[in-house]
This record gives sequence, C-alpha cells and structure tokens, in this order.
Amino acid sequence: MGDVESQGRPADIDFDRPNSARIWNYWMGGKDNYPADQAAGDAVIAVFPGITTWARHARQFIIRSVRYMAESGVRQFLDIGTGFPTDQNTHEVAQEVTPEARIVYVDNDPVVLAHARALLTNTTNVGVTTYVDSDFRDIDRVIGMARGALNFDEPIGVMFMGSLGHVEDYDEALAIVRSYMDAVPSGSYLAHYEAINTDPVYRQALDDFNAEAGAAWGYYARTPEQIGQLFDGLELVDPGVVRLNQWRPNPAKVGNGQNIDVVSMGAVGRKP
Ligand SMILES: C[S@@+](CC[C@H](N)C(=O)[O-])C[C@H]1O[C@@H](n2cnc3c(N)ncnc32)[C@H](O)[C@@H]1O
Repeated sequence: MGDVESQGRPADIDFDRPNSARIWNYWMGGKDNYPADQAAGDAVIAVFPGITTWARHARQFIIRSVRYMAESGVRQFLDIGTGFPTDQNTHEVAQEVTPEARIVYVDNDPVVLAHARALLTNTTNVGVTTYVDSDFRDIDRVIGMARGALNFDEPIGVMFMGSLGHVEDYDEALAIVRSYMDAVPSGSYLAHYEAINTDPVYRQALDDFNAEAGAAWGYYARTPEQIGQLFDGLELVDPGVVRLNQWRPNPAKVGNGQNIDVVSMGAVGRKP
C-alpha cells in the first residue's frame, strides 16, 4: 500500500455545498454524493439529460484506454485529476494486466483526498498505488512527488481524464500537458478526454452550471480541434480523436451505445 502525500491542509469538507467531484460521481451513478450535489447535478440533467450518458461512457473510456496502454507495455501511470474511487479505477485495470504496475493519482479536492484510502488499496502485493494531494498546475511539485513511486526514465501513461477542462484558459491547459509530456520519456502515452462545445443544449447547461460554480470548480468545454491539438507531436493510436464511445469500443459490452453522440472526445497518443 502506498502513502498519502498531503499538503497538510485540513480536510475542510462542507457537505451542504455542491462539490464538483461529488456531482461527477452522481452523474456516473456513484454513491459518494449528497443532496446539495444531487440538486446541482439535477439542474444540469434537467437541461441536458445526456450528461449522465457521458459520465458513464467516460469511465468506460478510462478503462479501455488504461487497458490499451498496459497491454502495450506501459507499467507506470500518472492519473491527474483522478476523482472519486469508483468500481474500476486505473490501478485495478492496469494491475490486472501487469500486477507490478505503479500508479500515482493526483487530485486537489479535499473530498477526493478523504476517499483516497480506498484508492490506495492495491489489487496485488507487488504493484504500487499512491496519491498526491496537489493542484496539477504545480507541475514541479507533482512530478517531484510522483518520482517517489515512478521512474521517469521509463514510459509513463499520463492521464488527464475530464480534469483539464477545469482550466478555463485553453493555452494554459495546453502548456500544462506539454510540461508533463516533456517530463516523460519516449514510449510514454497521453490519454485524455474532455467535453466538446458543439452541442448548443449542452453549452447552455454548462453556462448555467458555471454561473453557479464560478472560478472554484467551473468547467470549460473545448472544440474538437483543441482536443486534437493536445496530441500534437504524439503518434495517435487508432482511431484518433473521436467521441469517447467510439474509441476502440468493446463489442461484447451490452448497451455500448456506439451510435450515441456523447458530448465528449478523447484519444490516446504515444510519445515517439
Ligand atoms: C470531472 S472530474 C473527472 C474525474 C475522473 N478523472 C473521471 O474521468 O472520472 C475532474 C477531477 O479533476 C480534479 N481537478 C480539477 N482541477 C484540478 C487541479 N487544478 N488539480 C488537481 N485536480 C484537479 C477535480 O477535483 C475532479 O476530481
């Protein structure tokens, strides 16, 4: 079992105010949410019911992309903006393929930190799973702490799954990704998904959500081109940047919903 790395701040958790990670958990069909989160989540569902479909497909995309990277030989993962533990977390998927896989989770939400111990349960007695409590903008700090568990001379699967959209300024988000990818060697991967802003109904729901959320946990959708640009310089894994449910879908999964227009795109790219 790994150690929780903390900035030493108190777990200042207010259950009467909606929280971004808990709302996402609610949309995903999870149990770690409270009436305030459900009310905020329901306000979005009322305008854009497809949000729950997206949240569920997002988890399936994470599972498929982690499995892909692990089966391609990646044994180390840096999952940045990990969110709540759920039924299939990165370490469980990776360690099922490679028992000795090493995973570092990063999030800056005290509510996620409070649940981190559940994330830290290894599925093997040889793998390493650890958690860094930090803002991912503090790149030197995150990488410095991640070095305690990961070898930056060997390939790392860098994951930004639905977390980068919390950075309002796209150029800043792009620079953050570039910095992390610069720190990892050839053979590493970037796995990423984010909301796209092409559906006017979703855009309206997001505007309403952000009016409530403010700077603290606002979320910003991107153009499909912007999502693609994050992979510049990387070798895109087939089928490239697509809607999440169209990324290497598992045909055996009932209700895979390949024909649904999920409002989110993602991809996996390999650093040459
Ligand atoms: C929409 S959730 C996605 C969770 C998970 N990756 C998934 O796809 O199910 C976004 C997560 O990013 C985290 N996050 C947002 N901004 C962050 C930041 N600046 N530093 C670290 N984590 C952040 C949030 O706390 C939240 O847990």
